[in-house]
Amino acid sequence: MTAPSTSSPRVVVVTGAGSGIGAATAAAFVDRGDRVVGLDLGGAAPAGVELVRCDVTDRAAVTAAIDDAAVDGRIDVLANVAGIPQLGRLATISEDVWDRTLAVDLKGPFLTMQAALPYLRAARGCVVNVASVAGRVPQPYVAAYAAAKGGLVQMSRSLAMELGPEGVRVNCVCPGGVDTPLVARVAEQYPDDLDPRLADRMHPLLAGAGFMPPAEVAAAIVYLASPQAGYVSGAVLSMDGMQG
Ligand SMILES: NC(=O)c1ccc[n+]([C@@H]2O[C@H](COP(=O)([O-])OP(=O)(O)OC[C@H]3O[C@@H](n4cnc5c(N)ncnc54)[C@H](O)[C@@H]3O)[C@@H](O)[C@H]2O)c1
Repeated sequence: MTAPSTSSPRVVVVTGAGSGIGAATAAAFVDRGDRVVGLDLGGAAPAGVELVRCDVTDRAAVTAAIDDAAVDGRIDVLANVAGIPQLGRLATISEDVWDRTLAVDLKGPFLTMQAALPYLRAARGCVVNVASVAGRVPQPYVAAYAAAKGGLVQMSRSLAMELGPEGVRVNCVCPGGVDTPLVARVAEQYPDDLDPRLADRMHPLLAGAGFMPPAEVAAAIVYLASPQAGYVSGAVLSMDGMQG
């Protein structure tokens, strides 16, 4: 299913490349010699990455950025990493928070995949979506986030089936806790009245292992986007050290 290798570098688009897992992923693709374009609201791109300011929820901006990123009508890899957290009890989730969480974490990957599809078809390329362990197993206090990430898992599997015959692979990674600025922001949102019976469901990490470095998630994304994963599509890779 993998495109024949060419002498020119692969073209890789990474959303969320301005921070955390996205920055680590963009850097890892640069390290292997790919031409990398990052899409982000802001942040600082790693060396060698062309960072384009783009809100992944804005169809016009996404289409323009993806069209600009394509070289010779081709994008080989799209890594959807941009995302935002949500934490709080159901009663406290405002409609704005619900809408923004679903927009960034679920609609964003839909928009980027739709815009990139002609280029991915031309390259017989692939997509790697970053969901979350919260999209696979129940966790409390993350209803909007879980809905978005669970949706992203199933969208990835559906599209793997739909696009497989066209030679486009779609895979998904589901990290547990990763040591990024997002985690620090989440910590500020913990409900004051957290139910102690649910505390251990909020950190489904390998006991004692702590938060993983973003480079570990980046390595998984790079593998799934590599020719060595040419027969891997529809995979949902859990990376939480425990739950499989
Ligand atoms: N850190 C974790 O523990 C963890 C665990 C599981 C899944 N994830 C997922 O990994 C992905 C990356 O998270 P991270 O921890 O690196 O977070 P991060 O906050 O360090 O980086 C996220 C990046 O996405 C960008 N972004 C946010 N909204 C955007 C938008 N509308 N358009 C374009 N860019 C936007 C931000 O500007 C930021 O640069 C997210 O999808 C997150 O849900 C993270």
